[in-house]
Amino acid sequence: MDKKIIVNGKDEKEPLGDLYGIFFEDLNHAADGGLYAEMVQNRSFEFDTVDNKEYHPLYAWEKVERGDAGVVLSICTTDPYCDKNPHYLVLEAVKPGEGAGIANRGYNSGFAVKEGEAYLFSCYTKKMSEDPVELRVALEGQDGCEYAVLTLCAEDTGWRKQEGRLVSSRTDAAARLVLTLPQKGTLALDFVSLFPEDTFMGRRNGMRKDIALKIKDMKPKFMRFPGGCLVHDGSLDPEARNSMYRWKNTIGPAEERPARRNSWGYNQTLGLGFFEYFQFCEDIGAKPLPVLPGGYDPHHQRVVPIQEMQPWIQDALDLIEFANGSPETGWGAVRAQMGHEAPFGLEYLAIGNEEVGDAFFERYPLFHKAVRENYPEIKIIGTAGPFAAGSEYEKGWSCAKECGSDLVDEHYYHTPEWFLANHHRYDSFRAEDPKVFLGEYASWGNTWYNALVEASFMLGLERNAKAVGLACYAPMLANADYVNWKPDMIWFNNREVFGTPDYYVQKLFMNHQGSRRLGVRTQGLGEPERKEQPLRGSIRLQGYDAEVLYRSVTLENNRTGERKDFGDFHLKKGEVSVLPAETEWEDYTISCRAVELDGYQGFQIFFGWQDEENHYCWTVGGWQNYDLLLSKKIHGCVSDLTQSLIRVSEGQEYELKLQVSGHRLCAWVDGRLCAKTEDRPVVIEPLYYGASRDEADQALILKVANLREESIAVQLELEDMCGSVLRGTIYTMQADPAAENDFEQPERVAPKESPFHSKGGSFAYEFPGLSLTIFRLKEE
Ligand code: AHR
Repeated sequence: MDKKIIVNGKDEKEPLGDLYGIFFEDLNHAADGGLYAEMVQNRSFEFDTVDNKEYHPLYAWEKVERGDAGVVLSICTTDPYCDKNPHYLVLEAVKPGEGAGIANRGYNSGFAVKEGEAYLFSCYTKKMSEDPVELRVALEGQDGCEYAVLTLCAEDTGWRKQEGRLVSSRTDAAARLVLTLPQKGTLALDFVSLFPEDTFMGRRNGMRKDIALKIKDMKPKFMRFPGGCLVHDGSLDPEARNSMYRWKNTIGPAEERPARRNSWGYNQTLGLGFFEYFQFCEDIGAKPLPVLPGGYDPHHQRVVPIQEMQPWIQDALDLIEFANGSPETGWGAVRAQMGHEAPFGLEYLAIGNEEVGDAFFERYPLFHKAVRENYPEIKIIGTAGPFAAGSEYEKGWSCAKECGSDLVDEHYYHTPEWFLANHHRYDSFRAEDPKVFLGEYASWGNTWYNALVEASFMLGLERNAKAVGLACYAPMLANADYVNWKPDMIWFNNREVFGTPDYYVQKLFMNHQGSRRLGVRTQGLGEPERKEQPLRGSIRLQGYDAEVLYRSVTLENNRTGERKDFGDFHLKKGEVSVLPAETEWEDYTISCRAVELDGYQGFQIFFGWQDEENHYCWTVGGWQNYDLLLSKKIHGCVSDLTQSLIRVSEGQEYELKLQVSGHRLCAWVDGRLCAKTEDRPVVIEPLYYGASRDEADQALILKVANLREESIAVQLELEDMCGSVLRGTIYTMQADPAAENDFEQPERVAPKESPFHSKGGSFAYEFPGLSLTIFRLKEE
């Protein structure tokens, strides 16, 4: 056979370290209503319009008045159980009737309870009338059928914790938790909580077992948490209701943690806090990788004055002590008090998520210096922003290099085509520089094709392990009824969970990462297939959510010198003007003067326009009037090719010039070159491959992705195993490229395992079209 993949187990390359991990962000209700097993929504009556304009203190609760019952509900703040959670409910049963009280609807369709399973109820009460006040707690179906009941009694005039256990007599995904007062009386109620007894590892204040197990099964080497944008969006005041994510707010008894606005448009109880994150990491065998805000909210341009940065820096130092300090240290003692004497073994700390701009670059070095001086063993991670290229990306890298950061966090969400075109992105990265932490990436979609393209890209990461230290797909979790962001790796509702094809790819790569990369040679595999597409199409002008004036619009053919003048275009918000011009040119310059007359953002010039779903775009003043972007849309999905900063001022005239030379794009504003990029062609290699050794069991791992539709027959030669009998497992994934998983067919696309046996290390194998194959082999 003329096509060969040759692996030599003695050709040892770099260690693969902690390469593949996961990223947890509380978006899509990933924490509350997700991994955090609390079943009551709005347990502390703290939901507020600051979280979401539809929220109020009784959100997710409803009044219960059965028969001729009458109840008066009021939200009070005088003498609360905890000042940080000042709201509580006062229930006044004026007439108990057949049930006077409240019901909580939980998340999704309700409380998903199972027959025979136990649920742990707790709440805080104080009686507000003379006599003791009874509280009846029931799990009920929507038809009023009771699945479990318990009765508690508030005898004190001060706050007291009440607890009980409910065992459900039925399975129902839409149950309610109903609290009623059987007699006349007045009761104050707070922190109403219900957890399944059977949480992950049986922990109190724990995680939902099914979701946690799905995560654990991946065997991630690390977990980045708690976000994303969640970390840096908010007020600078840690006491403010909408404060940024400040880790000290998230520890201690759950009922004493303050509720906070979640920047994804809901409320976070912070019941899943830093202690729980660290513990979860330990439970699943992943190294913790916390992200702290850098004293700058890029979404609202809130910046901590440089002379007031000390508390923020101290937060970082204290977090290290909380994680690693002995119980004799101040913060180590807090950890021990929470139930974890031994240190959590923190190795990584990231400062900032996607922050770009001088405000961040001035502040990051302060954190870096303090952490390095106090904890030289901690690996410090800087950020290169939310784009894969451009001026701020470059600045992020320069800042990290100047500081001597250990890793730089890169993020990008792109089309599958971009991932294929950029398979060799890291080939030129240097081992001596900070390592890449690919902290967020995904191709737009959850089909098998998306997952397979990601697999091919990951083989590029592995091949460049000298420069790429860590990588994690993002986002990880999505509650299917509360979606902020798509695609996501794992989907769930209140009772079921399924992994996407992307999940299974990630799982396979984590389960079979190996500890050391091995060299791979090939023979006769053939040439890469280049899918060059000429950049042709019409040109359109538009305001970006703004009324704009484009003056003296011209188009010049750079090859022939032919020039067309189109005059002026006054475009109201939403209006588009298509230039009556050639659409076949491939080398041209568009020039104009542009003024924003009314609006907030800026200008958009579309070019290479094929249709709504397929075109290029130059945006000036994008995302909160902050970005200058050159982007490409394919099949309705966008890839930002490069980004820099700009702010468009209303009434000011800008000279815009865009040069399109084949696939090379340059953009100038007022004579300044602001963006330069090349839209690389999609390339499909004959095969994508990588090999490693798992030093734990001496297994040899070979991963091969075939991105072509036809199968490819190859002779595999494991040189140093020629005389051996090999045994092991082959894991294969193959499916229709458009196939996805869902609740009905959660494993439509999932790996198949088959035993492998070979006498000798040379054997033929046919890699099916559009497939991923992983061999895990050992010598007998
Ligand atoms: O992963 C979703 C979001 O994408 C993250 O919050 C943010 O870091 C990125 O922009």
